[in-house]
Amino acid sequence: MLVVISVGGSILAKDLNSDRFISYANALDTLAKEHRLVVVTGGGVAARDYINVARSVGANEVACDFIGIEVTRLNAQLLISALGDNAFPEPPRTYKEAEAALTSGKIVVMGGVIPGQTTDAVSAILAEYMGADLMIIATSVDGVYSADPTTDPDAVKFEKMTAKELVNIVMSTEMKAGSKSPVDPLAAKIIERCKIETIVMDGNDPVAVSEVIMQEGVESEPVTGVHLGTRIVG
Ligand code: UTP
Repeated sequence: MLVVISVGGSILAKDLNSDRFISYANALDTLAKEHRLVVVTGGGVAARDYINVARSVGANEVACDFIGIEVTRLNAQLLISALGDNAFPEPPRTYKEAEAALTSGKIVVMGGVIPGQTTDAVSAILAEYMGADLMIIATSVDGVYSADPTTDPDAVKFEKMTAKELVNIVMSTEMKAGSKSPVDPLAAKIIERCKIETIVMDGNDPVAVSEVIMQEGVESEPVTGVHLGTRIVG
């Protein structure tokens, strides 16, 4: 399978701990023996910090986005370093560069590409462009909820939802550089239009992410279970 994995910066670069990059690299190495992988890394807290400073010194939202993109690319470079020879050596800057990089047979790791979106959207666009079989959004929440579970005690997690339901939930999120939503609204729209099989799940444990992908690759029936998070169906 060709799998696109969006790894939130809030997971990968939570505390800029080398162990997190190494454990993700180990899980990806194992997965790459069976599947072709494109990994898109987010910016996390560092991106938000840089964006906040940029905004306070007068940068507009597009300029803030450009700064965010650079931070996502830094995280991509750290993951590439942890993967060593198994990774394509440079994070592609465009979707076409990513497509070309994949022909190397190596794991392709990249960050953001253009302002006005997040790396979830990069992942969804790549998944559509490359005809991926599966997209995983490995994030800091364990799925998509009816409301923000950190502030609303009545928030309910969806085990399964349609892409249209996902669009309705995330479209209400404020679209500003560095803003927080389980899935970027643009990513949700792309998932809706290309109907790519998508799983939104807790990305804290890279082994769990890898297990879910391995199971998807072999099971004829859709996988269910505790670590699965939310499955988005066409
Ligand atoms: P992220 O993808 O990290 O955003 O991009 P996020 O939703 O905050 O995700 P986590 O916290 O890592 O899980 C960081 C910022 O970089 C800019 C945006 O400003 C985004 O908020 N960005 C990223 C872009 O403008 N374009 C891109 O293609 C990617």
